[in-house]
Amino acid sequence: MTAMLLTEIDHVAIAVPDLDAAIAYYAETFGATVAHRERIDSDGVEEALLNVADSYVQLLTPTSDSSPVAKYLEKKGPGIHHVGYRVADCAAALQSVKDHGGLVIDEQPRPGSRGTTVAFIHPKGAFGTLIELVQE
Ligand code: CO
Repeated sequence: MTAMLLTEIDHVAIAVPDLDAAIAYYAETFGATVAHRERIDSDGVEEALLNVADSYVQLLTPTSDSSPVAKYLEKKGPGIHHVGYRVADCAAALQSVKDHGGLVIDEQPRPGSRGTTVAFIHPKGAFGTLIELVQE
């Protein structure tokens, strides 16, 4: 048996075409507040993290046409893009994915938003879900 490596849901990421409109929807409908907003040019995205207890809803919009999120929106429209799981050790969790035959997008952990360390796992081999491992 593998010890449980996922400590919490860090965020559910939703791809949206208009970040301000999506923030306004969550604020006006649910009273949600923005905890963090960041443009990550290396990923071609701008994100807003909205607090939901100890987790976040991550609203994600592309900042360039070549961004994977731009392609996602084009193909599928707005919707759930990935699930971020909190882990104590991103490298160890990524290694466990590899050891169990999973397909990784990031061979090594890399910097994520708000100073986290992250790695993405390919939806092929993960039952159709793009998974992000997030170490704080
Ligand atoms: Co994410």
